[in-house]
Amino acid sequence: MKIFIDTANLADIEAGLKRGFARGVTTNPSLLAKEPKTSFSTHVGKILELINRYQPGIHLSIEVFSRNPAEILRQAKEFMAEFKYPSLSIKVQVGWDELEVIKELSAADISVNCTACMTVSQAIMAAQAGAKYVSLFSGRIRDGGTDETVTTVRSDMLARKVLDEKDFDPNTVIRSVRQLLDDSNLATEIIVGSIRSVVDIRDAALAGAHIITIPPKFFPDMMNHYKTDQVVQQFLADFSDWLS
Ligand code: E4P
Repeated sequence: MKIFIDTANLADIEAGLKRGFARGVTTNPSLLAKEPKTSFSTHVGKILELINRYQPGIHLSIEVFSRNPAEILRQAKEFMAEFKYPSLSIKVQVGWDELEVIKELSAADISVNCTACMTVSQAIMAAQAGAKYVSLFSGRIRDGGTDETVTTVRSDMLARKVLDEKDFDPNTVIRSVRQLLDDSNLATEIIVGSIRSVVDIRDAALAGAHIITIPPKFFPDMMNHYKTDQVVQQFLADFSDWLS
């Protein structure tokens, strides 16, 4: 499993990259909107400066900010031309019209990270269309089963058997997508995002995610354990007693 950093915050990206465990950075428009106002190009340029300083060559995903297929294509090509970063991937939202964009970008040798995937069918169709990565949103897949703001549309999709209860278990979705990709010999990699806990990270990895993109707030907890602190303290105390 590879770890990506899911943020647009420069200090958090630097703190992660200088520790050497990450193999990529992912952003989205909401993450960028949390940062001090500047231009998109300036901010992405600063992320690239950090990547080039600490871990040159690692993955960077940036997302288009339009739902219009022609505009998505234009933005994707503009980002590739502007940033000229070989490991840049363009996040394109999953959708019926977006499939054509994914096909066209992939044919132009532009790496597509098809984002906001919630179901097996979305991820597999995006992979077949040429997406190099499919981003499955663990927390939001789970929320999809209970979110009260979408009760009507959920009931309709359940009634028409577009979905069933298995579609609200993120690890079942991840496991199924991985199995189908492997069975079809598709090289598309699964990025699991929308992480809500450290346990989600372990479970997504065991379910078959190639990559987990993780909000930086979880990194210290991933490295801490009270028994580690206890035993290290014990070693130091024992050694100090022996010296005295
Ligand atoms: C991943 O690519 C997404 O940017 C992100 O993980 C979405 O997570 P959220 O559900 O916390 O917005």
